[in-house]
Amino acid sequence: MISLLLIITLCSSTAIAEDGSSFSLTDLLNRRTTPEPKWTGKYFPTPPMTQSTPAPFVQHGGVPMGALNPNCDDGKTNLSVDWNSSPWDYTCLFPSKLIIPDINIQPILDIENVPKEYSAVHYCMNETIVYQNPVPTFGPHRPAWPRYGEYSFVPVQRWLHTLEHGGVVMLYHPCAHPLEVERLKRIVRACLFRHVITPNAHLKADRPLALLTWGNRLTMSAINVDVVKDFIKQNALHGPEKISRDGQYDAGLIREAKIVSDTEDTDLCPPPSLKELSFYW
Ligand SMILES: *[C@@H]1O[C@H](CO)[C@@H](O)[C@H](O)[C@H]1NC(C)=O
Ligand SMILES: *[C@@H]1O[C@H](CO)[C@@H](O)[C@H](O)[C@H]1NC(C)=O
Repeated sequence: MISLLLIITLCSSTAIAEDGSSFSLTDLLNRRTTPEPKWTGKYFPTPPMTQSTPAPFVQHGGVPMGALNPNCDDGKTNLSVDWNSSPWDYTCLFPSKLIIPDINIQPILDIENVPKEYSAVHYCMNETIVYQNPVPTFGPHRPAWPRYGEYSFVPVQRWLHTLEHGGVVMLYHPCAHPLEVERLKRIVRACLFRHVITPNAHLKADRPLALLTWGNRLTMSAINVDVVKDFIKQNALHGPEKISRDGQYDAGLIREAKIVSDTEDTDLCPPPSLKELSFYW
């Protein structure tokens, strides 16, 4: 259930890692992974060296992406396999208990070292895809990826494909404070075209706001504009597939993304105009 879980950290200039160690936000954001780290996590579906048939030309388990095949995935058929349209995925169960942002709760950056060899499998709509982590940063997904923009709801099976292409996904808990949610949306929209915004009820009450890129998860209670922009500048467009082309899936799209610098997002988070600045605060 939703509770106001207040984690008070004493030192305001540090961030807490998952293992409990703390370091400055600059260190945190600069901690891009060292080359070839030892991978101790799980592979989907098999570790790179154990695949029985090396298939250099068959990516994604042989299912092409974005091919709009109604016998596999056209972004319209059997969508209920991924989402049962439950309103609780986008509606606050207890509107009287909106989560109040707390600047004493430091952001957390989780980095998952996805091996370079890893190629995510594309599954057709005749198969379900489940994830161990309710907010994964990589994994198998659907062939049709979401058009860029803001949605009433996008299932994880779709937005993981956005991360694979180097896009940024913004998630917010349905009970996150609407003003804080709006601030984060404005920053993301002003930073890059390649973004997807959707509510997600799996975020925790202490950090109900999240930005994701392939392998990276930044979760927050209160928005620090510099932390958000640094995260986007350092991690956006680093997905394993550099594809800027817009998606095909648009169920629940409520606001199309606008080009920020150009179609390639060459200039991430360009300095805002004075007019835009006034929206941040
Ligand atoms: C959609 O679901 C039906 C019923 O489960 C199934 O027969 C059909 O193959 C599915 N279609 C696709 C494209 O997955
Ligand atoms: C799902 O459909 C695809 C494409 O038609 C097919 O290759 C695959 O074997 C099917 N999977 C199952 C579990 O039926």
